[in-house]
Amino acid sequence: MSFSPDPAEGKRVYDLDREYVFHSWSAQGALNPMCIAATEGSYVWDYDGNKWLDFSSQLVNVNIGHQHPKVVAAIQEQAAKISTIAPQHANDKRGEAAQRIVELAGPNMAKVFFTNGGADAVENAIRMARIHTHKHKVLSTYRSYHGNTGAAITATGDPRRWPNEYASQHVHFFGPYPYRSPFWSDSPEQETERALQHLEQVIQFEGPNTVGAIILESVVGTAGILVPPPGYLEGVRALADKYEIVWIADETMSGFARTGKWFAFQNWAGPARSDRVRQGIELRLRARRWRGHLGRHREDRSTIASSPAALPTPAIRLPRPPSLRPSMR
Ligand SMILES: Cc1ncc(COP(=O)(O)O)c(C=O)c1O
Repeated sequence: MSFSPDPAEGKRVYDLDREYVFHSWSAQGALNPMCIAATEGSYVWDYDGNKWLDFSSQLVNVNIGHQHPKVVAAIQEQAAKISTIAPQHANDKRGEAAQRIVELAGPNMAKVFFTNGGADAVENAIRMARIHTHKHKVLSTYRSYHGNTGAAITATGDPRRWPNEYASQHVHFFGPYPYRSPFWSDSPEQETERALQHLEQVIQFEGPNTVGAIILESVVGTAGILVPPPGYLEGVRALADKYEIVWIADETMSGFARTGKWFAFQNWAGPARSDRVRQGIELRLRARRWRGHLGRHREDRSTIASSPAALPTPAIRLPRPPSLRPSMR
């Protein structure tokens, strides 16, 4: 990459940021942001010319590297053709991306609802679950993050929730965490058994007729990369079915092949029983998928979600479904 260090420009960028930019979830006065001058592949450069390996892939969202040439070319091509359309219209890119996501998510999955971000998707999933089940309580774990908007931040378990709990009908419970077990368990299997007993008790004490949704990160991200012990998600699936509760799989941080499967829940919970999955890709594109009956129950929309210029990316990143492979046409 051709890039010349420019410390003076770095200072200008730093001063602009400190003067005018409000950063999320931070005490503004304590910030000392690194100024990024260039990015390429797995690396970022600062204005002094230092090259850094982007180990965290920004917020675990630059999955295929910075400025992948195929992504850049596809966005440029689509932006010159159709860059945005309103939600009520049909479009080839939106339809193709939705088809590929549906096929990758597995059987029982029917439709994709594109939103603008993770919290936005969580809000809409919770609303859909409540309307579909006619039950308003939402269960989520203490060790979780689901976004910074009304219901999403109230569903969140971590302390960012505390000054922001304005949404109602949210109940928190303890998820499994074998390393620091809240259930004094001796093994991952025992942790699963006790965590599921605890969840079922919470459902029973809250009232199964009042609980409409359980929202879980399939692999808990921000709270510490907590991988569910064997059998836990299968157990959640069974409890959700038993009490007619919608399971919302928040895969903002774990979806789209980050765990080795296209969606993290597919590692454990069996094919496509999740009520909703979410994708996290480097553009502000989010998808929601529902089992068939939910997809039919209600359609919803967002003002600017899924602009075609954002959609070539999944078209490139996702394997083409067999029906679209040229060799099989
Ligand atoms: C599991 C999870 N859900 C939701 C969100 C919120 O996503 P966004 O910041 O795009 O609104 C995040 C963000 O990190 C997340 O990790």
